Amino acid sequence: MSEFISKIRTIQWIDDHSRMVDQTVVPYEFKYVDITSGQEMFDAIKTMIVRGAPAIGIAGAHGVVLYAQELKKQNLSREEFINELLKKADYMATSRPTAVNLMWAVEKQKEVIRNSKSDIDGIIEELKQNGIKLENEDIEINKRIGDYGAEVVPKGATILTHCNAGALATVGYGTALGVVRSAFAKDKTIQVFADETRPRQQGARITTLELTMDGIPTTLITDGMCSYFMKKGMIDMVVVGADRIAANGDTANKIGTYTVAIAAKYHNVPFYIAAPLSTIDTSIKSGDEIVIEERSREEVTHINGKIICAPEVNVINPGFDVTPHELITGIITEVGILKPNYNESIKNAFMN
Ligand code: MRU
Repeated sequence: MSEFISKIRTIQWIDDHSRMVDQTVVPYEFKYVDITSGQEMFDAIKTMIVRGAPAIGIAGAHGVVLYAQELKKQNLSREEFINELLKKADYMATSRPTAVNLMWAVEKQKEVIRNSKSDIDGIIEELKQNGIKLENEDIEINKRIGDYGAEVVPKGATILTHCNAGALATVGYGTALGVVRSAFAKDKTIQVFADETRPRQQGARITTLELTMDGIPTTLITDGMCSYFMKKGMIDMVVVGADRIAANGDTANKIGTYTVAIAAKYHNVPFYIAAPLSTIDTSIKSGDEIVIEERSREEVTHINGKIICAPEVNVINPGFDVTPHELITGIITEVGILKPNYNESIKNAFMN
């Protein structure tokens, strides 16, 4: 397994609370915030203090523990405690709608609650331990994704990525940027082109910071530039993350990903998704069933608190788009690279 260790730990359970990097202030500040209540966690996910599909999954799992600790103080019977906690867990899962890792991780905590034979203190301890287990597994899974992905990175490649699917979108290491890290461990001549990623600029603010922290050569471009560089033959492959993958391989990721995929197809540039199996939602047949988050108009009308357009202009702000499976060269997971036909390869990945 790759030895190229990212210095970043995005989220961690500590004693009785969750500690996370506040991603709303990156890159001006790199600071940790402590989240001590269930509602604070709901708000941290919604306001994107923590973001990125796998990271918000872990945040959701921690949020259930925080709710459990609060409910304990209400002196409920064991049955009342369990019923209330399951309701709070469902509420936590609604904090953001598109990234399925959130629902997946909350469901893992609900299984612990339903299956527990312990008293209230015991249930809380089991939830904590399960949250810590999910955290640690996330890093291991990312390293496996990275190592599978590194096998398809050509020597000296320039890799284009969109948004941030890095250490800061996960517990550590990253999915798409995990592939970059593992490839860089073997070949110091690779480099990354990072899309700025309007409107929240995760590419500019977060991807450039975490890659340069690790000494990986990175060039920032604006979202509209990708086809220009592809036409010049300057991009060898695209690797992006995912928020939800349907059973047929259709993939929701940060808005703008679909445009990159179309440009890649036109220019014969391989386009890969890197994501854990927990991002695959086999309950939906195609991307048409994926709920796309609508975010606030201010994300589009303002940059750094300053308005950049006519104040009364209409705005639509979908947070994600769906890339059709025909545009995807492969889906890099912790069990290998899934290839078309995705209905078949995804089914097989879950059977093994
Ligand atoms: O809105 P965000 O910043 O949470 O969106 C994140 C992305 O779209 C990422 O690229 C995706 O979650 C993959 S994270 C490994």
